[in-house]
Amino acid sequence: MKLFQGEATLSEILLKFIESYSTPLIVFDPERYEILYLNEKAREFLRDTSDLAALFQEDEYINFIKLIKDCHNIEEKRVISFKKDGNTKGLLLFNLYPIACDDCRLVIFTFSDITEKIKHKEEKRRKNAQLIIQDKLKSIDLVTSSISHEINNICNFMINNLKITFQAWNDVFNLIKEYEGENGEFLVGGISSSEVSIVIPRLMMSLIEGINRISDTIDDFKKYIRDGLRSEFSSINVNEVIRRVVAILNHHIFTYTENFSINLTNSLPEIKGNLQKLEQVIINLLINALQSLPDRQRGVLISTGLEGDRLYIEIHDEGIGIPKNIMPHIFEPFFSTKYSTGGSGLGLYLSKSIIEEFGGEIIISSKENKGTKIRVYLPYES
Ligand SMILES: Nc1ncnc2c1ncn2[C@@H]1O[C@H](COP(=O)(O)OP(=O)(O)OP(=O)(O)O)[C@@H](O)[C@H]1O
Ligand SMILES: [Mg+2]
Repeated sequence: MKLFQGEATLSEILLKFIESYSTPLIVFDPERYEILYLNEKAREFLRDTSDLAALFQEDEYINFIKLIKDCHNIEEKRVISFKKDGNTKGLLLFNLYPIACDDCRLVIFTFSDITEKIKHKEEKRRKNAQLIIQDKLKSIDLVTSSISHEINNICNFMINNLKITFQAWNDVFNLIKEYEGENGEFLVGGISSSEVSIVIPRLMMSLIEGINRISDTIDDFKKYIRDGLRSEFSSINVNEVIRRVVAILNHHIFTYTENFSINLTNSLPEIKGNLQKLEQVIINLLINALQSLPDRQRGVLISTGLEGDRLYIEIHDEGIGIPKNIMPHIFEPFFSTKYSTGGSGLGLYLSKSIIEEFGGEIIISSKENKGTKIRVYLPYES
């Protein structure tokens, strides 16, 4: 059976196939690290230069050359970062196929730019997480509403009963005074009859105050949940946001550490902004802190405080720390040392842009093997 028609040879057909292949493809001579061939898509991608060095950061490029030179097995679905459109960071998904002939060895490198795809995927994942939080809030809102209804009913009923008791007390008080006038001072429930006129009304007032406090607390909580369900600009109580994030991540926290603590400064001024976005930042930072812990004995502390005309949220972990050489890159989109465990390298990038929307800043200090301290500074309106 004749496999090829006419004059075309197998190598010509393969060349045509490679040239019109739908993704960029480069053929390397790995021994000399020399480009032997670029197909049309690869030429388009590299804008007709074959300068791969300009495509990568220096250390990434050194790794890449090493990968090509040492490639003896098929490597598929690997990811490498590159300088997209000049200097922003992008991601390439690539495959390497080594081909050994009698006296030569080739490596075929195929790749595609997955920067936008990953960004969209990550945004979708984060939106979904936000939806889950919203969903939880809706259920909490439902439960809180019915509990608050019940509790407010009981509070009203207690206040009404106390009012009646108060009226009865006036009559009882007159009787006590009459009896005292005839028989001298005596004890009423362990209280001297001369003092009951002060002590009993005071006790009753404190009961009324207590009942009002219960009712206010429930109303505040309900309001807080409702605020959380609204996504627009609002006044934010930072301590409350932290408490809520901790409640949401409670199980997660326990998986990573048995030494988790919170130290919130009371009476912090409120800040203005989008509550859910701030929540997202705290979740990102807290998850990073937890993921950095090498064992459950190491801890994480979240605290809040005031410094000058700004308030701060500090997340201090006793994790592995951030090595000096990667510190300048951690806010870049797609910079991650956790790709293998599902990191996308967008957490800090998104957090930084949100905090900048708030008019604040994020300051990081870290010591390798000791831990990392992240402070989020936020302006408040006095
Ligand atoms: N608390 C921390 N301790 C140690 N390293 C950290 C800490 N926070 C951030 N990093 C480093 O900064 C990198 C970037 O963090 P970032 O949150 O942006 O991405 P990620 O955590 O890798 O992925 P994800 O998109 O899931 O958040 C991390 O991969 C990690 O190397
Ligand atoms: Mg992260």
